[in-house]
Amino acid sequence: MSRRPLIAGNWKMNGLSADGIALAKGVAEKRKAEAALACDVLVCPPFTLLADVARALAGSGVAVGGQDCHAKVSGAHTGDTSATMLKDIGCSHVIVGHSERRTDHGETDAVVKAKAAAAHAAGLVAIVCIGETLAQRDDGRTLEVNKTQLKGSLPEGANAANTVIAYEPVWAIGTGRTATPEQAQEVHAFIRSELVKLVGETEADKMRILYGGSMKPENAAQLIALADVDGGLIGGASLKAEDFWAIARNCA
Ligand code: PGA
Repeated sequence: MSRRPLIAGNWKMNGLSADGIALAKGVAEKRKAEAALACDVLVCPPFTLLADVARALAGSGVAVGGQDCHAKVSGAHTGDTSATMLKDIGCSHVIVGHSERRTDHGETDAVVKAKAAAAHAAGLVAIVCIGETLAQRDDGRTLEVNKTQLKGSLPEGANAANTVIAYEPVWAIGTGRTATPEQAQEVHAFIRSELVKLVGETEADKMRILYGGSMKPENAAQLIALADVDGGLIGGASLKAEDFWAIARNCA
C-alpha cells in the first residue's frame, strides 16, 4: 500500500504576525517551486496567526491547521476555539491530543476523542497524537501505552480520510533525541496492527501515521523511508522554511 506522506509543521506557541506570515509565504514559495512534490504539506500556526496564514496560503497547495480545538461547536467556553471556527477561517486539519496539551491541560484520552469527533463533525482532518514518556519506555510499557491512548482517543467513524495518527514519543519532543529507525518502525507497525482492530484492515492500510519528535533535515530521510512512517509532525524544524522544506523534499 502506498500512502501519500504528510509533512506537517507544528509551530506551537511561536510567531508574531510579521515573522509568522513571512514563514508561511516562504513555505508557499518552496511549494510552488516544487510542483512534483510527492507529499501533502500542512502548517499549524498559533491561533493568533491562523486567519492571516490561511489567507497567505490560499491557492498555494499548502494546507493550514489548528493546534487544538474544543469538543463543542460553540458556547460559554472562554478562551477556547471550536473546530467549526477553524474550518470557517480556512483550516482543513487540527492537531488533537498533543502531549503538551495532555500535560499542560490535563487532557485525557476521552477529551482527545471528543475533540477528534468535533473535528470530524466540522469537516476537519484530526491529527491524533499519541506517545509514551521516557519512564514508560524504560518500564517496557511503550506498546501498551500507545495501544491504550490509540483506542481511547479514536472516535467512532474514524477513517483514513478524516484521521491521521501522529506517534510522538514524549522523550523525543524538543529534546534533540530522535527515535532510532528501529524504534520508530516497531511502534508504527504496532499502531497499524492495532488500527486494523479499530477501523478495519482497509482503512488501517490507508491511514497515515506520522512520526514526531526532533525530526530535522539530518534524520528525516531515514525516518520517512520506513515502511509504516507516512511523514512527520515537525516542531522546532518547522520554524525555518529552509529546514522544513529540506524535510519535505525527502518525499520527492
Ligand atoms: P519537535 O516537536 O520537532 O520540536 O520535537 C514535534 C512536536 O511536538 O510536534
